[in-house]
Amino acid sequence: MTVLRPIREDELTAFTDQLSRAFQGRPASPEWLERTRRQRELDRTLAAFEDGALVATAAAISFELTVPGALTPMAGVTAISVLPTHRRRGLLRTLMRRQLDDIHERGEALAGLWASEAQIYGRFGYGLATYSASVTIASHRSAFAFPFEDPGSVVLAAAEQARAAAPGAWEMLRRAQPGMLELTDVYWDLRFQESEATRDRLGELRCAIHELGGSCDGFAIFRQRMDWNRDKSSLLVEQLVAGSPAAYAALWRFCLDVDLVGWVEASDRPPVEPLPHLLADARAALPTVSDGTWLRLVDVPRALAARRYSAGGELVLAVRDEFCSWNQGVYELAGGPQGAECRPSSRPPDLELSAAELGAVYLGGNTFRTLAGAGRVSEVSEGALDRADAMFHWPVVPWNPTHF
Ligand SMILES: CC(C)(COP(=O)(O)OP(=O)(O)OC[C@H]1O[C@@H](n2cnc3c(N)ncnc32)[C@H](O)[C@@H]1OP(=O)(O)O)[C@@H](O)C(=O)NCCC(=O)NCCS
Repeated sequence: MTVLRPIREDELTAFTDQLSRAFQGRPASPEWLERTRRQRELDRTLAAFEDGALVATAAAISFELTVPGALTPMAGVTAISVLPTHRRRGLLRTLMRRQLDDIHERGEALAGLWASEAQIYGRFGYGLATYSASVTIASHRSAFAFPFEDPGSVVLAAAEQARAAAPGAWEMLRRAQPGMLELTDVYWDLRFQESEATRDRLGELRCAIHELGGSCDGFAIFRQRMDWNRDKSSLLVEQLVAGSPAAYAALWRFCLDVDLVGWVEASDRPPVEPLPHLLADARAALPTVSDGTWLRLVDVPRALAARRYSAGGELVLAVRDEFCSWNQGVYELAGGPQGAECRPSSRPPDLELSAAELGAVYLGGNTFRTLAGAGRVSEVSEGALDRADAMFHWPVVPWNPTHF
């Protein structure tokens, strides 16, 4: 018999070992165990047991997510794994069922996750909401298109200084950036603490901060992989976060100008960003795009009322949701830049779609028209796609640079 329950503290090592074996093929390192111990919310950390042995894992983290025009709670779904001997017997489905019921009971209207494989989570109502890009720039092609004079300055920061400065710059950006998450003190502590083993494996974690008027308005976290052959030397930008255009240009210029580096590689970037427009050779900085956060509207009317809309308007949506049947129905949404209301309706629908499609358009990263092109949204009343897209569009492209 399978027993599904939150784990106890003394089961954290077994939980983390199972997870580590699934993703890295080996038991958890002491560093991973320490991170887990400090970050896991035990009442949201589920495991399935058979004959007393742990066979599957799932967890959720309580986040605050930036949505268009507002901040709202989101359950960050993570740590999903099933023992290879127990795969394809429905354990993931059982975990998803329990977890989404819990999230619903807690009153969180949204759940989000990073998917190991893009085929898995659509069936549970998650839609592809943000995109994540990586970019590799040859240093010799990185000249700016226009002269740039930094009104502030870039300084190299030791770990403690970076730990103190980074959260302020993060907050400047994330409150207006749909898709970004509020990060806890524990997260920031761990971000700048690395074991020697990790340092040996990946190279030293370094940080540059941008200062303007005595405060930090941006930072870059990077590592260098040096080789005597400059063409093989690279600078890996793990994070570049800027609260102003000056900090953005200055931090990129810094990263692109480090001596003896042939390539600058950046990951977890937004799919569309100013960088190519900063360079004289825009083609040198064109990104490769992958999927980012998958989003699930756990409570459709509450989620739709939680964000703001660019253009005022009304829409009637017929929503299919087999996995969370409490969402199934027709809803009337009235929204604009100041706020929104959403309630059950008996009016004829303008659009028909499933909860996963709502997840995909919710942050403004996809249009209804694109999804209609894939046969995923049906336009019932003429002009509804354009009205919906005018409402849901948001000028800031959604981006989540945080893996969880
Ligand atoms: C992905 C994983 C959790 C699936 O667990 P599982 O218990 O085998 O999944 P289930 O048996 O409950 O499958 C549920 C459904 O998802 C499908 N599915 C599961 N994993 C899938 C995959 N990797 N690709 C495509 N479909 C998948 C199943 O076919 C089944 O389909 P159905 O709805 O048509 O019946 C498991 O294979 C695993 O641990 N993988 C390694 C770690 C990992 O990738 N975790 C996910 C992190 S985001």
